[in-house]
Amino acid sequence: MAKIEQEFMDRPNPRTGDFKAPEFLPRVRNVDLGTEPIGGERFYSAEFMQAEWDQIWTKTWQLATRVDDFPDPGSFFVHELGKESFLFVKGNDDVIRGFYNVCQHRGNRMCQAESGQLDTFTCPFHGWQWNIDGSLKKVADPQFFRQFDGGIPTDELGLTPVKVDTWGGWLWFNMDPDSCSLQEYLGAPGEHLESYEFEKFVLIDYQSFEWDGNWKHAVDAFNESYHFASLHPDMIEFGEGHDIPIELLGIHSRMLNFNRTVSEVVEDRDTITPLREHMALSGMGEDAASYQGSAKDLHLEYVRRQRAIENETHLPIKQMNDEQLVHQYHYTFFPNSTFTQTAEGGAVFRYRPHATDPNKCYYDFIILAHLPPGSPKFERPPHRIHKHDEQVDYAAAFAGTFDPILANVLAQDGSNMVTMQNGMKSDSFKGMKLCEQELRLRHFHQTIDRFISGEVSTRNLPASDAYLEN
Ligand code: FES
Ligand SMILES: [Fe+2]
Repeated sequence: MAKIEQEFMDRPNPRTGDFKAPEFLPRVRNVDLGTEPIGGERFYSAEFMQAEWDQIWTKTWQLATRVDDFPDPGSFFVHELGKESFLFVKGNDDVIRGFYNVCQHRGNRMCQAESGQLDTFTCPFHGWQWNIDGSLKKVADPQFFRQFDGGIPTDELGLTPVKVDTWGGWLWFNMDPDSCSLQEYLGAPGEHLESYEFEKFVLIDYQSFEWDGNWKHAVDAFNESYHFASLHPDMIEFGEGHDIPIELLGIHSRMLNFNRTVSEVVEDRDTITPLREHMALSGMGEDAASYQGSAKDLHLEYVRRQRAIENETHLPIKQMNDEQLVHQYHYTFFPNSTFTQTAEGGAVFRYRPHATDPNKCYYDFIILAHLPPGSPKFERPPHRIHKHDEQVDYAAAFAGTFDPILANVLAQDGSNMVTMQNGMKSDSFKGMKLCEQELRLRHFHQTIDRFISGEVSTRNLPASDAYLEN
């Protein structure tokens, strides 16, 4: 690729003002977060897990699902986070509401399907019923309840609501009714991503993987690219993850992986090998095979071709910078949602804690495409939760929706979960030594600590530059 600009620009971080998706190059100088080792206990301690629940999961904005999963009144979706289950449902007034999915009679998980359409929700145990706005519809045989002799306290027996909001065609929720707004929470990085027009993306696949490791190992596995050369030998053949730009943005962060190039750690960066042809040259138009340049410069040609069609495509290329057109802008919203995409589509990673066990987590992988208007409705494969000990075949899990070479990369990422979880418990482990290419991990763990200590919360979220300076 063209020589990556190595100069840092001395300017405040994060950038503020009127912008949409500022480029990564030249690089921004990040604040100094120190070099202290980070201990392993946070990955397996039950007390730490409880503190995360109390101070983070129950207070931060969480991604639920796509708004277009609710086409009609009665369309519903159930989502689990830790010990909780939530029911989201569109009312007759077209408003999507969120509720704890708990029966008010004896606490049963009320709705036991993941999605569908209903005009009434009925608990399967004794048959109490709720309307799609969460209000109580019926108590079965109320004459048996002496406490209802004076009338059924309908208000008290409605489903317990949870706060919801939307951004980018996504439904989000927050268990803390007094948290800041979603827009305030997402802040500048939320604005950066608006240029992709996520609300026009279509969800084409959603698969979950129960990984035998703490959820933070999964976040850490994807928030640095320092591991590419060692763990993903294929990826450095058609992309660059070596010495990449990283930016801290308040409690969130982003990094840039370069696509359609060859890593500087690879000796031959010029030849169009079959792998580079498949991953970097294909998809560049009918006459792609006529490309005569170096493999490492394919991204330059790709940008040229994208700019040439910007007036005739449905993709919002005109409002995107050149980096966005070809490279992988990788954003993580604290604590657990990552967006990584180009104009044509992308992936969302969501990391969820297990209900009771700090040694397990769920890794949700969601694939999106920005299809041309008028495309036939995409019949997405069923959502599955793949058990780690099933020896998951990732290529098979994503057959038809994700390139098998990239699915294999995911398998490589998942392969460290058990070994990290076990290794960290050793008495000999002296804490993680993180390099500057792993800065997002240090920032993430420090942010966790600041939430747990109560210094930072979503009720008094500091401005992003103030957050980073302290
Ligand atoms: S537990 Fe739900 S109706 Fe009894
Ligand atoms: Fe990886």
